Amino acid sequence: MALVGSGSATPNQSLNNDQLGQRVDTNDDWIRTRTGIRSRRVIGPNETLTGLSHSAGLSAMSMAGWEPESVELILLATSTPDDLFGSAPQIQAKLGAFNAASFDLTAACSGFLFALVTAAQFLRNGSMKRALVIGADQLTRWVDWDDRRSCVLFGDGAGAVALEATSSEKDGLLGFKLKSDGSRGDCLNLPQVQDYLPLVPGTSHQRGGFSPIQMNGKEVYKFAVREVPEILEELLQVNEILPENLDWLLLHQANQRILDAVADRFAIPQHKVLSNLAMYGNTSAATIPLMLAEAVNDGRVKSGDLIASSGFGAGLSWGAALMRWQGPI
Ligand code: UT7
Repeated sequence: MALVGSGSATPNQSLNNDQLGQRVDTNDDWIRTRTGIRSRRVIGPNETLTGLSHSAGLSAMSMAGWEPESVELILLATSTPDDLFGSAPQIQAKLGAFNAASFDLTAACSGFLFALVTAAQFLRNGSMKRALVIGADQLTRWVDWDDRRSCVLFGDGAGAVALEATSSEKDGLLGFKLKSDGSRGDCLNLPQVQDYLPLVPGTSHQRGGFSPIQMNGKEVYKFAVREVPEILEELLQVNEILPENLDWLLLHQANQRILDAVADRFAIPQHKVLSNLAMYGNTSAATIPLMLAEAVNDGRVKSGDLIASSGFGAGLSWGAALMRWQGPI
């Protein structure tokens, strides 16, 4: 499986730290020094998550040089679909990718890596040749904008990669590891509201709806700085790759301090650490493909580059992948 295209899309509205300070008791200095975030994008009235995902997917397909009918699989990694039944089929229709099976996959901020690995299985076992994997989230619709401990972190966006089946010698997914631990899930969740209404005498039903994001920031921080280096280390060892041989470290963009801590642990210099969270904040499943698309477009990531990536977040879920960027064949 080769990574042959990438694309991204972000909303037009931006919200900087000073503007946020008009809503909650926070300030630019606190947010910048504790997180590295300066601004984030917020989906407004004339945009949708499906629309952003479509744009990101279209860019990835066009970089790959694909006709829409040649795509056989579209995976949308998201926790915030426009439709709880799944938004991937809407993207499929907008792309005109009529031969693609399409479905949503949820693993919160690890969703993109989980979806990438899932798509790779179809391509490697020979059942499909072309897959589009999109990571997109609109957490701004589920954030409690009066909770300064969490609302400063999140933003909206979408990123996509185009994956093409190849011979095993040319496989661009050198290795991966995925993990989950539901016993620690209460550190970060977006739960159903417990609201029961009478249906008929003696029977009630639950009304649909979610309460805002609940997060224990300190616990999530500790989880990330413990588990991410561990899973990356395992992956590097199994694949007999030394950290100095990596071209890029591409982590889920949650907090610059987490990126720095992981990079320090492997003595990876700052110029090899991809980071755009100053501009976008944490866009959940979108962070990794959004960052990749940006670095491919501006020429930083080149064909043949070796990338170590790790996603982590709610679930709890986390994962890592070693990838070689191929670009258009
Ligand atoms: O995809 C995964 C998503 N989640 C994450 O990545 C979260 C990971 N965790 C973090 O990034 C950090 O824990 C945070 C950025 C959320 C918080 O940073 P921290 O250094 O752990 O701060 P803290 O929660 O210990 O708070 C320190 C102080 C507190 O004041 P006191 O009690 O020391 O007086 C907070 O009330 O900072 C205060 N504070 C704020 N002040 C201004 C918390 N949030 C804010 C804020 N603005 N937005």
